[in-house]
Amino acid sequence: MTLFVAGNWKMFASRAGVTQFVESLASQWQAAPGVVPVVFPPVGYLAQLQAELASKLPGSVALGGQRIHPEPEGAFTGESSASMMLDLGASWVLAGHSERRNLFGESDEMVASQVQAALTAGLKPVLCVGETLAQRQAGEAQAVVGRQLDAVFANLPAGQGFGQSFGQGAVAYEPVWAIGTGETASPAQAQDMHGFVRERLTAMDAKLAEVPLWYGGSVKPENAAELFAAADIDGALIGGASLAATSFWQIIEQAAGLASAEI
Ligand code: PGA
Repeated sequence: MTLFVAGNWKMFASRAGVTQFVESLASQWQAAPGVVPVVFPPVGYLAQLQAELASKLPGSVALGGQRIHPEPEGAFTGESSASMMLDLGASWVLAGHSERRNLFGESDEMVASQVQAALTAGLKPVLCVGETLAQRQAGEAQAVVGRQLDAVFANLPAGQGFGQSFGQGAVAYEPVWAIGTGETASPAQAQDMHGFVRERLTAMDAKLAEVPLWYGGSVKPENAAELFAAADIDGALIGGASLAATSFWQIIEQAAGLASAEI
């Protein structure tokens, strides 16, 4: 069993902070079999983070970008492409984080083209989905998440192996009401939605049955273990608690405990 522990640093970083994070993580690090840690820093810090990890924690932490533009290059001021992320050391990229959807108006179609661009370039996408509080209260949570999944998977060109290549990627369920609010979905609420996502993906393409499903929304050392214990939770996407090396490491340690118990 593999568990993913991913830190989304959002727009929090500095050169000194990167150095301190890596030094602190390296000083606490122990073998964590069965765990894949990933950090998604702001794009400008990818290369520094990669270099410092390579010298102090070689081969231990993968890197990802927070978003890409779907085109490989062009006159798109302020944007970065999938191949640029790869060039800077990333192997993963988030697509459709709720902050991108809600604050920057990214549509399902835009998210779908980012996922396709990532797959084409050989970057593993993390498709983020999740409902708002109003949508949950209106009983629409599954309909919203289902639509967000369909927008990507149902429209992937048939016969091009996308189902297969997406097997390398992940889906992150992040209820918007749990992001940065301190409020976490209960393991039962998260498992309910993860079960729904698993079913939906499997119905679309049997090759999608094994896609790792990450949960995000106020994951911290205090609640990580109970979330990881749920049947269909294969990882966590962590914002606030990933900024400090100590809490990030504590979550990795808990994941390692569970992963090795189930190997
Ligand atoms: P949070 O953020 O852990 O601070 O709630 C999660 C995310 O937005 O990915």
